[in-house]
Amino acid sequence: MSERPLAVVTGASSGIGAASARRLAVEGFHVVAVARREDRLHDLIKDIGGTAVRADVTVGPDVAALAGTVAGLGAPLTLLVNNAGGAFGLDPVESAEVADWQRMYDVNVLGTLRVTQALLPALVASGAGTIVVIRPSTPRPRWPARCAWSCPAARSGWWRSIPAWSGRTSSR
Ligand SMILES: NC(=O)c1ccc[n+]([C@@H]2O[C@H](COP(=O)([O-])OP(=O)(O)OC[C@H]3O[C@@H](n4cnc5c(N)ncnc54)[C@H](OP(=O)(O)O)[C@@H]3O)[C@@H](O)[C@H]2O)c1
Repeated sequence: MSERPLAVVTGASSGIGAASARRLAVEGFHVVAVARREDRLHDLIKDIGGTAVRADVTVGPDVAALAGTVAGLGAPLTLLVNNAGGAFGLDPVESAEVADWQRMYDVNVLGTLRVTQALLPALVASGAGTIVVIRPSTPRPRWPARCAWSCPAARSGWWRSIPAWSGRTSSR
């Protein structure tokens, strides 16, 4: 059982997620670092402590197993950082691939839904749960219509809708 409050960080194997995990460990959290590249997660956890969980946020059973691991740690879950994602569709509309748009939404938007839904009971039970959603910059009116620029609008809605669902959980 962890003595420290838990912070789940998705996409913790590189970039913003790895940097967030390091900072949260310094701030006193037991970090649950989530991504597909397990070797990178283990290197991170060797440095900062915490728990590595190999999970693909597009795969329901992986996300359910993540929730099980979090419950098994026996400490309050007070922070979820939904960071896993990326920009997969850079082609303009005329040559866009539907598959890129589907992948972009599956990871960035539906991945956020899957992980938040699975961990929401634990966040609410902690009495002090905060949900952070990392999103790309808001598209500007003159930017060309691209998947990578359209997806942020969908992800942005999260911080507005989550408090209404859960009552006792804040989001940013
Ligand atoms: N870089 C920017 O300028 C910028 C600006 C604003 C917002 N953002 C957003 O910030 C987030 C992180 O960006 P970054 O620049 O740090 O990117 P990054 O270095 O490419 O990191 C992306 C992370 O997401 C994980 N990931 C991707 N698909 C996943 C999946 N299906 N399941 C689980 N994990 C998955 C990757 O881990 P694995 O490959 O190991 O699974 C990796 O840890 C993204 O959501 C991005 O849209 C980026």
